[in-house]
Amino acid sequence: MSQMVDLVIFGGTGDLSTRKLLPALYQLQRHSLADRLHRIIATGRGVMDSASFREDARTNLQKFLPEGTWDDDQWEAFSARLEYVKIDADSPEDYRELATLLEGSEAPGRLYYLATLPSLYGEICSQLDTAGVVNDACRVVLEKPLGHDLESCRTINEQVAQVFEEEATFRIDHYLGKETVQNLLALRFGNQLFHPMWNNTFISSVQITVAEDIGVAGRGSYYADTGALRDMVQNHLLQVLSLVAMEPPATLKATDIRDEKMKVLRCLEPIDSANVKERTVRGRYAAGAVGGEAVKGFLEEDAFHDANDTETFVALKANINNWRWAGVPFYLRTGKRLSRRYSEIVIEYRRQSFSLFANDPQELTNKLVIHLQPEESISLHTVNKKPGLTSKLKLQPVELHLTDESQSKRDSYDAYERLLLDAIHGDQTLFMRRDEVETAWHWIDSIIEAWEENGSAIKSYNAGTMGPNASTALIAVDGGSWHE
Ligand SMILES: NC(=O)c1ccc[n+]([C@@H]2O[C@H](COP(=O)([O-])OP(=O)(O)OC[C@H]3O[C@@H](n4cnc5c(N)ncnc54)[C@H](OP(=O)(O)O)[C@@H]3O)[C@@H](O)[C@H]2O)c1
Repeated sequence: MSQMVDLVIFGGTGDLSTRKLLPALYQLQRHSLADRLHRIIATGRGVMDSASFREDARTNLQKFLPEGTWDDDQWEAFSARLEYVKIDADSPEDYRELATLLEGSEAPGRLYYLATLPSLYGEICSQLDTAGVVNDACRVVLEKPLGHDLESCRTINEQVAQVFEEEATFRIDHYLGKETVQNLLALRFGNQLFHPMWNNTFISSVQITVAEDIGVAGRGSYYADTGALRDMVQNHLLQVLSLVAMEPPATLKATDIRDEKMKVLRCLEPIDSANVKERTVRGRYAAGAVGGEAVKGFLEEDAFHDANDTETFVALKANINNWRWAGVPFYLRTGKRLSRRYSEIVIEYRRQSFSLFANDPQELTNKLVIHLQPEESISLHTVNKKPGLTSKLKLQPVELHLTDESQSKRDSYDAYERLLLDAIHGDQTLFMRRDEVETAWHWIDSIIEAWEENGSAIKSYNAGTMGPNASTALIAVDGGSWHE
C-alpha cells in the first residue's frame, strides 16, 4: 500500500520535530523523494496560526539544516505543505479541527507521528479514533522510549493496538535508520568473504560501544528515572546486537528480518542475581573535563542531586545461547560524558592457532570495525609485512577501508530521512515489532531486578574518561580489552 499521505506530527513544536523531523522532511523534498507526502500538519498545545508556525519552521530549518542545503525555492514548496493545529492530547474539541482539515484532503493515507511523552500515546490514539480520523489507510509512528519496563511497555502497546493494527504501527529506533547499520546486512550476506566466517569458530568476541561526550543537562526528571541501561541498551544496543547476530533471513522482507532479530533476543542468556556482579558494571560521572572544558559531576547538576540510584554508564557482557554464538561474549557499553562521541561495532576474530612470525603480538588480531558515528564507515584490521630490506619477515598492522568515501559523502543522509521515507511508503523493515521491544524489556527488567536485589554499587568515573575502571576489568578477565 503506497499512496499519498498527510503526515500529522504530535509534538510538532518540540525539540525532536524542530531538530530532526522537519529538517529530514525538507531534505526528502529536496532530494525529490517526497512525492507521496502531501501535507505536514504539526500540532502542539500553543495557540498559533499556520503562518506563524511556518515562520518558526523557517528560522529553525536555517539553523538545523546541514550547511549548503537551504534553498529559497525548496522552502517555498515545503512551506506550502506546512499546517499547524493546536491540540491538547486529552481535549476532544481540539481533534475536530484536525478532522476537518483531514476530511478535506486529497491524500487518502494518513501517518500519525507521535513525538510527545509516551504516556500520551494511548490517549492520542483513542482520541483520534473517537474523532473518526482513523481508517485502514492510517499508520502510526511511535517514538522511544516505549515504556519504563515490560509492564509499562505492554500497557502502551495495548492502548495503541486498540486503534492501530501491528502492520500499521511503526516503532522508531533511529539507529536502524543509519546507513552503516543497514550495510551490516549487505556486508554479512552479500560477501562470501565474511558470511561463512560469521560464527564462533572464527569470531572470538563482539563489542558494541555507544559513547557520548554530552551530559544529561536538559533531560531533567526523565533521565533521573531512566539511566543508561533503559535509555540506550534496551533499544539501540540490543537492536544493533540482534542485527549483528541474527541468522540469514529467508528474504529481505520486514517479517523475515524481524523474525530473525527476534530469535536472537530470545536466545539472550538472562542476567540475574546469580551473575549480575560479574556481568554488569554501573557507572556515574563525577566532575572532570571533556574536550578541554571543565564539567560538573552528575549529582552536582541541579536536576539530579537526589538521583543516587541512576547510572550514566553501563557496561555488560551478554551471551547468546545458540549454535552460532555459544562461547562468544558480546560486550556492550554506553555512557554520558565520556572522552568523545562515537559509536562502533567491533568484530574480533580468533588468533591463528599457530604463528610463523617472531613478532606476532596479541594485539594483531583481525578485526572488523563498523563505525556508526560520528562518521559512518567500515574498516578491516589485518596484518602485512613490515616493509624494508633489513628486517626479517615481521608483521605490521594494516587498516583497510571498505567504504567508498566519495560515494558515502555524496549520498549521506540522516537516519530520520530514511525512517520517515519508509514510514510514508509503509515499509516496516527498519522498525521494531512489538514482540522485539517487549522481549528486550524482559531481558533488561531482569538486570534491573538483580541490581535492586544485590544493592549494586554505582562506580564513579571522571567526566572525560571512558567509564569506571571496573569496565576495563569486565573484559580483561576474559583476556580482552576495549577497542579505543
Ligand atoms: N529530542 C530528541 O532528540 C529525541 C530523541 C529520541 C526520542 N525522543 C522522544 O520524542 C518525544 C518528544 O521529545 P522532544 O525532545 O521533542 O520533547 P519536547 O521538546 O519536550 O516536546 C514535546 C512536544 O510534545 C507536545 N506536548 C507536550 N504535552 C502535550 C500534551 N499534553 N498534548 C499535546 N501535545 C503535548 C509539546 O507541545 P507544546 O509544548 O508546544 O505544547 C511539544 O511539541 C519523546 O518521547 C522523546 O523521548 C526525542
